[in-house]
Amino acid sequence: MIDDIRAARDAALAQVDAADSLESVTALDSQLLGKKGPLAQLKTKLGGLATVDEKKAAGQAVNEAMQAVSAAMQVRTSELGSAALAARVQSERLDLTEHLTPPTRGHAHLVTQAWERLEDVFVGLGFQVAEGPEVETDWYNFEALNMGEGHPARGEFDTLFVGDPSEGDGAGHTVLRTHTSPVQIRTMLEQEPPIYIVAPGRVFRRDTPDATHMPVFHQIEGLVIDRNITMAHLAGTIEAFTTAFFGQKLPSRLRPSYFPFTEPSAEFDIQRPDGSWMEMCGCGMVHPNVLRAGGLDPEEWSGFAFGFGIDRMAVMRHQVGDIRDMYTNDIRFIEQF
Ligand code: PHE
Repeated sequence: MIDDIRAARDAALAQVDAADSLESVTALDSQLLGKKGPLAQLKTKLGGLATVDEKKAAGQAVNEAMQAVSAAMQVRTSELGSAALAARVQSERLDLTEHLTPPTRGHAHLVTQAWERLEDVFVGLGFQVAEGPEVETDWYNFEALNMGEGHPARGEFDTLFVGDPSEGDGAGHTVLRTHTSPVQIRTMLEQEPPIYIVAPGRVFRRDTPDATHMPVFHQIEGLVIDRNITMAHLAGTIEAFTTAFFGQKLPSRLRPSYFPFTEPSAEFDIQRPDGSWMEMCGCGMVHPNVLRAGGLDPEEWSGFAFGFGIDRMAVMRHQVGDIRDMYTNDIRFIEQF
């Protein structure tokens, strides 16, 4: 009898183990443990056993067997339950990959980078940053800079005119500033010396774009007005700042030149790796007429000024072959910096 019970129990446990869905476990519950189940059947035969002890032992064995099968069913139910949940989670899974991709980060344009770096270097040298409008009057752009009407040097600036010269209120017609030098005058009229300023900004000339020219480009003007300022201060300042900007001392030269607003005037060039020279900056000692236009006495004050091409500084720093590359917005070019 005991052997029959064990055999029935093992068979039932094997069926429970083999159940592969929650529904089949539920079906097995009544099938194995119900009144017509194999263990219940054996229970009805207990009465036929000979002794009380035998009945007792067999009765206990049947109860234990039923408990074991019931426990096995619970285990199987929870196993199949978590598998079903996992399957459902898997099937209802949303692909959020796209939303988790971090947005790509851009960076400042090459010219903006150079502009900011230049400001940093000059601020480090004790300069302040000044600014002026991109649309200027004739007076600030030329007249006050010692270029009266009809001055031949005006022709070199390829000016873009905004207003009609024959119209207006007598204050002179307006132009897109051809250089940042008008900020010299604006600063002198606004601030008492000593003046140590740089003025970065956009400037315009009626130029055809080529490898070294753009009709819209950027300059950084420098102006120092103090007592006993000499050309040596100018040379020392330019050298200190170009060395800081490029992170090394590049071969450079100061070449005599002419600007109506400086006397003497010079051009500052830097040597390219191929040995050729690139014009970076016009500079010189501020002309007495410019000091007067700025409301200062040339007997008391002296100073120097310079105007660097920011685009050229960027080109030189990053070894860009053609200045136009910086403005075509080709991502393959831009991403390199
Ligand atoms: N304004 C001049 C230019 O654009 C550069 C310059 C600035 C020269 C200051 C002398 C002094 O060419």
